[in-house]
Amino acid sequence: MAKVLVVGQGGREHVLAWKLMQSPQVEEVFCAPGNAGTAEDVTNVDISATDCERLLKFAKENEIDLTVVGPEASLVAGIVDIFKAEGLRIFGPSQAAAALEGSKSFCKDIMRRANVPTADYSVFTDPTDAVQYVQEREETTFVVKADGLAAGKGVFVCSEKADAIEAIHELMTKQSFGDAGKKIVIEERLEGQEVSVLALIDGRTIVTLEPAQDHKAAYDGDEGPNTGGMGAYTPAPFATPELVDLVIEKILIPTVHTMRKNGTEFKGVLYAGIMLTNQGPKVLEFNVRFGDPEAQPVLMRLKSDLYEVLNAAANGRLKDLPELEWDERSAVCVVMASEGYPGSISSGHSIRGLDDAAKLTPDTKVFHAGTAIDGDNVVNTGGRVLGVTALGTDLSQAKKKAYEAVKCIRWQGAWCRKDISDKARQAESEA
Ligand code: AMP
Ligand code: GLY
Repeated sequence: MAKVLVVGQGGREHVLAWKLMQSPQVEEVFCAPGNAGTAEDVTNVDISATDCERLLKFAKENEIDLTVVGPEASLVAGIVDIFKAEGLRIFGPSQAAAALEGSKSFCKDIMRRANVPTADYSVFTDPTDAVQYVQEREETTFVVKADGLAAGKGVFVCSEKADAIEAIHELMTKQSFGDAGKKIVIEERLEGQEVSVLALIDGRTIVTLEPAQDHKAAYDGDEGPNTGGMGAYTPAPFATPELVDLVIEKILIPTVHTMRKNGTEFKGVLYAGIMLTNQGPKVLEFNVRFGDPEAQPVLMRLKSDLYEVLNAAANGRLKDLPELEWDERSAVCVVMASEGYPGSISSGHSIRGLDDAAKLTPDTKVFHAGTAIDGDNVVNTGGRVLGVTALGTDLSQAKKKAYEAVKCIRWQGAWCRKDISDKARQAESEA
């Protein structure tokens, strides 16, 4: 029987730990550092997700068979290289390959070399040059991005030149995201529906997961600032089997090939954030790990044994794996957030009603993200607090069940988007 370590503390890590625990081959799952939800389902270990040396020591001492890494920060910090150097099995990309997410300019360069469709772009290290570029362009819409990691918040989608210039100052002059904004990428703004296509990659073989749609903007109707993701659902009607084939052919295969040629072979989850434009699918970004919150609804629908799947990927044996099995039903995940998110938040409030929500139906699961145990209470500690996820015969039923559970839960300042999965209906009416 295997022992597994999940690294991270968000909703994605909660679903990973929960799903891995269901494997008949798994004896114990640890989550470092975890949250109040993982403490209930598995065993938390009080080590930070980026403290690679202590995680390594823990994995060795506890004879961990497989380590699964959630957050990009740990991957960019080189956890995979450190574990592999000691002969430990770990699922994720090397530090060099994680640059696909850790540096937007690296990512853009790989896409250009791989001939992967993406928005036109320029890279700047000087704010004066960046402002001049914006002023001289004919178009008035831009997307300004911090080159480095910024927890999904370093992207500014701008409708006017003045907003783009403000974003440049926010990133480069005020340095609101520290070193991550020293270099920036300015892109053409694309229009269309977004889908997330995630694939498991062992260096050569590509196994796609069921596509999902995230909701990046903070408020209903896609208004407001960008967030890490306010909710997700699957299946995404925009992502037809033909589209997924096109994404594999035009995006995933050339990227994996170019990464290998570049000496940065990719192993792990390759997450393609895609915009369905009039000219076909274009890549908005690559992430090098499971999406959060996409992982919650997607893994809730996975019927295959996640341990077996990730173990095969870590062993470079994806080609021998039977086809993944999926629950035919739909899943919707609604993120409940703290007051103030995505800005500075109000934390430490007791969360009520978690037990009532859990009792509603067996097809509902409240995944924790920014929570901790404080005495007898569960309190909010982060911006995104819970991912309330439900399965239903179709999307509207899954949505109804998820929001019924949301209604049971309260804490001071709690809020969520009310329209998670409504974009799917737009797809149906356009079809
Ligand atoms: P990223 O972290 O690069 O995916 O950007 C976060 C979000 O910003 C995406 O999910 C999109 O909603 C939006 N976005 C990023 N790049 C573009 C673009 N070129 N055009 C329009 N929206 C974009
Ligand atoms: N949901 C977006 C992300 O995981 O980056």
